[in-house]
Amino acid sequence: MGSLDYPMFIATTAAAGERAGCLVGFATQASIDPPRFLVCISDKNRTHRVLEAGAEAMVVHVVPRDAGHLVELFGGETGDDEDKFERCAWTKGPGGIPVLDDCPSWFAGRIVDRLPLGDHIAHVLDPFDGRAGYDGPAFPFSRAKRVEPGHEA
Ligand SMILES: Cc1cc2nc3c(=O)[nH]c(=O)nc-3n(C[C@H](O)[C@H](O)[C@H](O)COP(=O)(O)O)c2cc1C
Repeated sequence: MGSLDYPMFIATTAAAGERAGCLVGFATQASIDPPRFLVCISDKNRTHRVLEAGAEAMVVHVVPRDAGHLVELFGGETGDDEDKFERCAWTKGPGGIPVLDDCPSWFAGRIVDRLPLGDHIAHVLDPFDGRAGYDGPAFPFSRAKRVEPGHEA
C-alpha cells in the first residue's frame, strides 16, 4: 500500500468555539446516489477531538499542486502546539468552518455517519456546498509523504 499514489486533501472543521484541520490522504468518493465522500481521521489528531466535540460538518479542500506550504502546515504541524489558522489565509465558510484561500476547490459535507476503522475514524459526508475554482492536478501523496506528520500516528 505504501507505493500507492493518490491526491491530498485538507479537512477542516469547527465545534465548541474551536477550529481544527489536518492534511488527509485517506479519503475517497464512496457513493454516487446518494452522493457520499469518506474522510478518515486519526484518533490521535487534534482534528479528531474537535470533531468529537459536536462538529456537524467538515470542509474538504483539494490541495493544489503548488500549495506545498499548506501541506507542511496542515500535515507537519498539530493544532495542539499552535494555531495553524494564524499562519494561513482563510475565510469562514458553511457553519463557520474555515475555508482556505489557497485551495479554490473545496466542498462542505454534513457528517452523516462515523465508523471506527482501527486507529482512524471514517466520517461519511453528505456534500451540500462547494466551489470548483481549481482544475489543475492535486498535490500527490508521493510528494507529501516526505513531511513528518505533526501528530504521532
Ligand atoms: C502525507 C500525509 C498524509 C496524512 N494522511 C492523514 C490522514 O489520512 N488522516 C489523518 O487523520 N491524518 C493524516 N496525516 C497526519 C496529519 O495530517 C498530521 O498528523 C497533522 O499534524 C494533525 O494535525 P492536528 O493534530 O492539528 O489534527 C497525514 C500526514 C501526512 C504527512
